[in-house]
Amino acid sequence: MTAYAKVIGTGGYLPAEVKTNEHISQTVDTSDSWIFERTGIKSRRIAAQDETTSSMAEIAARQAIEMADIAPNEIDLIIVATGTPENVYPGAGCMLQHRLGIKTGVAFDIQAACSGSIFGLDMANQYIKSGAAKTVLVVGSEINSRITDWTDRGTCILFGDGAGAVLLQASDEPGVLSTHIHSDGRFEDLLKCPNPQASAEENLTGYISMKGNEVFKVAVNTLGRIVDETLAANDMQKTDIDWLVPHQANIRIITATAKKLKMSMDHVVVTLEDQGNTSSASVLLAFNQAVRDGRIQRGHVVLLEAFGAGFTWGSALIKY
Ligand code: ACO
Repeated sequence: MTAYAKVIGTGGYLPAEVKTNEHISQTVDTSDSWIFERTGIKSRRIAAQDETTSSMAEIAARQAIEMADIAPNEIDLIIVATGTPENVYPGAGCMLQHRLGIKTGVAFDIQAACSGSIFGLDMANQYIKSGAAKTVLVVGSEINSRITDWTDRGTCILFGDGAGAVLLQASDEPGVLSTHIHSDGRFEDLLKCPNPQASAEENLTGYISMKGNEVFKVAVNTLGRIVDETLAANDMQKTDIDWLVPHQANIRIITATAKKLKMSMDHVVVTLEDQGNTSSASVLLAFNQAVRDGRIQRGHVVLLEAFGAGFTWGSALIKY
């Protein structure tokens, strides 16, 4: 048994192309002001034609490896969280393992929509604490632009592409303090992206559909509860949290969670203004950004949380 899974590196990648709200309002009936007021988003990044989930994951992963100053083959478990893998199989985890030149250990994908990186952190923590793995790479990587219906103004304003990575290693020093993950499969019809080739239904398109208003309400309630659950499990008070790193779906959902924590927005990492919702990548992209710009420092207590299709939701409390 190992005491902790400690964060030893982070990384992130955003594709070069910027798609602004003005660009979107040229093709669907919306406006920059409507989108910004309702979501907090101004622009998002779009992957180039030759980019894939694993190519973006590789760039984010290499940054994390460089920060940790380890050799890639020290990694004995790779978990890629994605809803947009380039293949049904082989998984993006195996593709990433090969890209990193690693021939040992194990790699696989997990699919928990926007909660994917939190589910990945949960697994990494369990593997490390049990002694089953020593060094674990968790990556969230998404090309949402390819599953977005660019004629649907209810969803096309929200999503973006990107990859975030975190490396964890067995340590006697704190690290991950606790993780909490949940799912409830009753809500398929509120937020869904079918796989037309594998579905029993005919004439499907493989695009995201969402009843945004209903998702919004469940997300706010659920994230409030996960905050309470995480604090109670660690016998902590709201004031013990230094940073909130939320999934970047909508600024109003983020603000509601910060309010629940009685936390000033100065202590909430927000990236969605110029990234949109990058699904499983968003929490790790935000975490990486705040680590690299010096906001999150060693010893800080950081609450990461997410909510996504399924529904899935979860949190990870980390002493950085
Ligand atoms: N521009 C202008 N008008 C719009 C747009 C748009 N882009 N989209 C919808 N509208 C209109 C609607 O047609 C509706 O018009 P009506 O009143 O005439 O019928 C009106 O605006 C209000 O629509 P709502 O859907 O009620 O708008 P809402 O305030 O809920 O905002 C939004 C929509 C931004 C999508 C919001 O509901 C949201 O962010 N939901 C949560 C998203 C989320 O958290 N997803 C989970 C994670 S994603 C994942 O897991 C993959």
